[in-house]
Amino acid sequence: MATLLTIQGGKPLQGRVRVRGAKNLVPKAMVASLLGSEPSELRNIPEIRDVEIVTSLLAIHGVKVDHDLEAGSLTMDPRETRNATYSEIDTHAGDSRIPILFCGPLMHKNGEAFIPDLGGCRIGDRPIDYHLEVLRNFGAVVDKQPSGIRISAPKGLLGAKLELPYPSVGATEQVLLTAVLAEGITELKNAAVEPEIHDLIQILQQMGAIISVNTDRTIRIEGVERLSGYRHRAIPDRNESASWASAALVTQGDIYVEGAAQRDLTAFLNTYRKIGGEFEVYDDGIRFWHGGGALQPLVLETDVHPGFMTDWQQPMVVALTQAAGVSIVHETVYENRFGFTHALQRMGASIQLHRECLGSNPCRFGQRNFLHSAVISGPSKLHGADIDVPDLRGGFSHLIAALAAEGTSRVTGIEVINRGYEKFLDKLTGLGADVELSER
Ligand code: EPU
Repeated sequence: MATLLTIQGGKPLQGRVRVRGAKNLVPKAMVASLLGSEPSELRNIPEIRDVEIVTSLLAIHGVKVDHDLEAGSLTMDPRETRNATYSEIDTHAGDSRIPILFCGPLMHKNGEAFIPDLGGCRIGDRPIDYHLEVLRNFGAVVDKQPSGIRISAPKGLLGAKLELPYPSVGATEQVLLTAVLAEGITELKNAAVEPEIHDLIQILQQMGAIISVNTDRTIRIEGVERLSGYRHRAIPDRNESASWASAALVTQGDIYVEGAAQRDLTAFLNTYRKIGGEFEVYDDGIRFWHGGGALQPLVLETDVHPGFMTDWQQPMVVALTQAAGVSIVHETVYENRFGFTHALQRMGASIQLHRECLGSNPCRFGQRNFLHSAVISGPSKLHGADIDVPDLRGGFSHLIAALAAEGTSRVTGIEVINRGYEKFLDKLTGLGADVELSER
C-alpha cells in the first residue's frame, strides 16, 4: 500500500511554524559524540527520519542513545562503544550518507570501520572520493569490497596537510572528525565554512579539541589525546526556514517561522527581497510574506557558503515561475539538481534546462553533459498534477507548487520529505493548507 497525499491548491498559507535543529548538523553532532569518553547532550532535535537512522547506527556501535521527544533532546553515551557486525551495518545500506562520517571516530575507537553502500538524495553522482583521499592521507587503509568499504588504521592516524579540490561540506566534516584525535597537526585548505560546520567545530571545541578557522578557508586542527562529552543546542535549520519562506511567497501567504535565524540566511534574504518577498526579523524568528504585486525575475547562482545555498534553489525556482519575466538559475554545487523541474513543467511552468553555465561564473559542470542551468519564464498559471516525489528539496518544492496551483494534485513518495522536514503535514494543516492523506 502506498501513501497518497491529495492537495487542493489555491489557498494562501498563513500562520506560524516552528523550525528546530538543522538536519545538516544534528546527525554529524551525533556522530561526534562517538569521539568522547563521556556522555554528550544535544538539544533542539527535530523529529526527522535522519535522526532515527543515526540513532540506530550509533546504537549498533554500542552508543546508548536516549531521545526525549518531549524535550527535544538527545543524550548519547559512548562508554561502551564496539564494532558492529556486518549484518547490523548492512541493514542501513542505502539509508543515508552519514555512515561515511563514522570512519574517523570508529578508527580512533575500534581501529577499523565498515561502511555500507551509501544512500541520500539522488541529485548527482555524490561520490566519496574526497572522503577516501583525506582518510588515506591520515594513514588509513581503504579496502573496497562489493558490499561496502572496510577502512582501518593499522599504524594509527596522523595529522596531515590537506587541500580539497572543492569545498565539500561532508569531506570537511570528515577531516574535522578524524583530525581532532589524530596525532599532530592537520591543516585543511579550501575547506567548507557553512554555518553547520562552525556549529560542529563549537561542539568539538567543547569536547576539548583545538581548532582554528582562517578567513581563507583554511582550518587548522591540533590533535589531542582525549575528548570529553559536550552539551549543545543545535543551530536552527536554515534550509527548512528558507523552504517555508518560499512557501509564503509562492502561495501569496504570510508565515512566521519561529526559530529562523537571520545570521545564517543572509544570501537567501537578499534574494527574497529582490524577487518581491517581504520579511521582518524578530528575536525568535522571521515573518515572511508576499509583498503584493508582481514578483521580479532574477539571475541566481547557487554556491558554497556564504553564497546562495543549493538547498534553497528548488523552492525559489517555484517562486520564479510566478515572476513576471525571464529568470536564470545556475546550479554550481550539484550537477543534477533540476530533475524536479519536469513535474513543474507538467503543472504549467515554463522552464528550459541547459548544459551551458548561464550564470556570470563558469563552474565545474560547464562543457560537460549536465543540465545544470535553468531558464524560467513567468508568470505561469500552475495547475494540479500527479507527482512522485524525487528527492527531499525537490519534493518540498512540488508540495508548494501544488499548494499554489489551481485544482487537485496527487502526490506519492512523500516519505522522502520526512527525512528532513519535521511533521510537515501537521505544519501544512496548521497553515490552512487543504491536504488529505490516504492509502491506496
Ligand atoms: N563531492 C565529490 N566528492 C566527494 C564529496 C563531494 O565530488 O567525495 C562533490 C559532490 O558531488 C557535490 C559537491 O562536492 O557536487 C558538494 O558536496 P558536499 O560534500 O558539500 O555535500 P554533502 O556533504 O554530501 C551536504 C548536505 C546537502 C547539501 C550539501 C551542500 C548533509 C547531510 N547534506 O551534502 O544537503 O546540499 O552539503 O551544502 O549535510 C539536503 O539537505 O537536501 C542536502 C542534499
